[in-house]
Amino acid sequence: MTTRPVTIRPSKALNGSIRVPGDKSISHRALMFGALAAGETRVSGLLEGEDVLATAAAMRALGAEVERTGPGDWTVYGRGLGALIEPDRPLDMGNAGTGVRLLMGLVASHPIRTIFTGDASLSRRPMARVATPLTQCGAAIDLRDGEFLPAVVAGAADPLPLDYEVPVASAQVKSAILLAGLNAPGTTIVTEPVPTRDHSERLLAAFGAEIATEEADKGGRRIRLTGQPELVPQDIRVPADISSAAFPIVAALITPGSEVRIERAGVNPLRDGILTALKLMGGDVELENRREVGGEPVADIVVRASRLEGIDLDPIIAASMIDEFPVLFVAAACARGRSRFTGLEELRVKESDRLAAMAAALSANGVAVEEHTDGLTVTGCDGPVPGGGTVDPRLDHRIAMAGYVMGLAAEEAVAIADMAPVETSFPGFTQTMQGLGANRSAGAKHES
Ligand code: S3P
Repeated sequence: MTTRPVTIRPSKALNGSIRVPGDKSISHRALMFGALAAGETRVSGLLEGEDVLATAAAMRALGAEVERTGPGDWTVYGRGLGALIEPDRPLDMGNAGTGVRLLMGLVASHPIRTIFTGDASLSRRPMARVATPLTQCGAAIDLRDGEFLPAVVAGAADPLPLDYEVPVASAQVKSAILLAGLNAPGTTIVTEPVPTRDHSERLLAAFGAEIATEEADKGGRRIRLTGQPELVPQDIRVPADISSAAFPIVAALITPGSEVRIERAGVNPLRDGILTALKLMGGDVELENRREVGGEPVADIVVRASRLEGIDLDPIIAASMIDEFPVLFVAAACARGRSRFTGLEELRVKESDRLAAMAAALSANGVAVEEHTDGLTVTGCDGPVPGGGTVDPRLDHRIAMAGYVMGLAAEEAVAIADMAPVETSFPGFTQTMQGLGANRSAGAKHES
């Protein structure tokens, strides 16, 4: 892949109303569940980023017909549960952790052999967290060094239902178990230590599966899924991704004079921790036109530039904003006083080690930051950060976009070594930001 370096200059106020692309988590799931329902599922607002396109290609290789009918509009003709065919080549999942982990679950209960590969970042991420529980259903899974891709999954011919207590807060592990349980007889049970995003549960219920959630010990949740349901094709409208919205939201908060509206953003309560955190920091963030679209809560989010205060963030919020920490660290860098973030070990195994990547990005741009095993302490600049340094995204879209946002509110230009990874989740990111008035160095190479 060609690298795309850019230089971000301090920006004037950001103003306007935007739509960000469709939710990545829901887009993956819509394609997968559509491929399991016999007949035609239509999806609108699908995220057409590289991660989701990798899932679309994988579903085709597994026997579904997947077609793009217009911008964000897709049709999936499923063959029915249990009817996946063995792919004739390895499935290259690119950068997509959600894609590969959920699909490992899906194929584990089908009598087919599937090989998964990924890019350099995905090939460094832990996979035993899904492979180990999936062996319970009878699948045999071989990982490089017992942990990494490539993975070879020999699915079970007579799958058994699973009963698994997930040791880490992970919607991907939870969903992989549920997907395996779909093609097993009997009840599959997953217990999670803290509630994580419930898009799989909501969408499976919409497709007609019998699925119930109850409270478990110490604030956790237990989900019961009745196996071998008849999934019914659906029309799915994917809300805009709050994880993508987080970048213009923080950009507007830290760029003086800004006022930005993000339309139709998903505000699922298990995803909206970033809004809570920013409000606790004094951010002027309002939700308007709250409504429900396709079984998911959505709203327009209105943000105005604000003087932010440092925060000691309660780690309990982490599960509902796990992907938004890189850009929250940027907000903390512009806030008044110190911020402490703890309980974030999981950030070390995302598309990059996000604690190390953001500690390096902030300190290279003059921000005082301490890195701990499970978090960061950031000393805010009470306004723009000094800037003048380079951000290395380490193949991680969210580090690249967090660096870009920091550059808008810096005294000196900030260089981003490579914006190419942004294509995984937010195609058109730079154009969207420029549409709001974000500046970019005239000398910088252009993204296309
Ligand atoms: C996701 C779950 C989270 C999140 C990822 C998307 C999902 O990962 O970080 O971007 O769609 O289920 P974990 O399950 O590893 O926490």
